[in-house]
Amino acid sequence: MIKLYVYDNEQELAEHGALIIQELIQAKPNAVLGLATGSTPVGMYQALIARYQANKIDFSKVRTVNLDEYLGLEPSHPQSYRYFMNENLFNHINIDKQQTHVPDGLAPDGEKACEQYDELIESLGYPDIQVLGVGANGHIGFNEPASTLTAPTHLEVLKTSTIEANARFFNSIDEVPTSAITMGLGAIFQAKRILLLATGEAKAEAIASLMSPKLDPNCPVSMLKLHHDVVVLVDRKAAKLLAV
Ligand code: GLP
Repeated sequence: MIKLYVYDNEQELAEHGALIIQELIQAKPNAVLGLATGSTPVGMYQALIARYQANKIDFSKVRTVNLDEYLGLEPSHPQSYRYFMNENLFNHINIDKQQTHVPDGLAPDGEKACEQYDELIESLGYPDIQVLGVGANGHIGFNEPASTLTAPTHLEVLKTSTIEANARFFNSIDEVPTSAITMGLGAIFQAKRILLLATGEAKAEAIASLMSPKLDPNCPVSMLKLHHDVVVLVDRKAAKLLAV
C-alpha cells in the first residue's frame, strides 16, 4: 500500500523523511536502515544530522546497508557511494562505521560479492526501512529498466541515460563507471517499510508509473506498489502528472 505526501518545499519533505527515521530508531535503537545515495536524500541526511546534534537520535546501535556501489571505484574515490555516505551522513553522527555496509565495488569476484551481500542483509534481518530515490528512467538502486528484473544482489550494466544523468558528478562522462553492484528487488521487498523520495520534474513520469495500476519492469519503481508499506514523499514537480 502506498501513502503519498506532496510537498511545496524540499525542506519540509526532508524533515518528514527524517522524522520517520527518528521515530523508527526511537522505537528500535538497533534498527537496520537501508540507505540510498543520489542528490535527493541529501536534505534528509542533513535533517538527520541536525536531529542527532539536538540529541533527538542516538545512532550508536543502528546498522545500515546501502543499495548499491559503482564497480571499479575505491571507497576513497569522491564519487564512490561509500565516500558519499561517509561525507553526507556517517562522519557527522555517532554511528559505528563497522556497522555500516556498502557493496564492494572492487571485489575481485563480483558474483561472490553479490552472494555475500545478500547473506549479510539476511543476517541483519533485512532493513526495517529502505530509503529509495528513483532515476528519471524509473530505476531503483541500480535496477535498470528491462523486460525482466532481478531478485538477488547482482551486477548491472548501466543504461546510457543513467550514465548521462550521473555524469554531472564526475569531471567528464568518460569517468562514469559503466556498471555497478546493486541490491535486487528481492532485498528491497524484504524491507519492512519503504521510504521513497523524489523531487523535480525529471521524476514525474517515474512517479506517475508508480502510482498507476500497472507493473512495468521497464520502469522498475512501478513494482513497489506490490509492497505492503510504502511511504512516498514528493515535491509538486515530481507529482505533476498525478491528479492530486
Ligand atoms: C543513482 C542511484 C540511485 C538514485 C538515482 C537518482 O543512479 N543509484 O539510487 O536514486 O541515481 O539520483 P538523484 O537523487 O541524484 O536524482
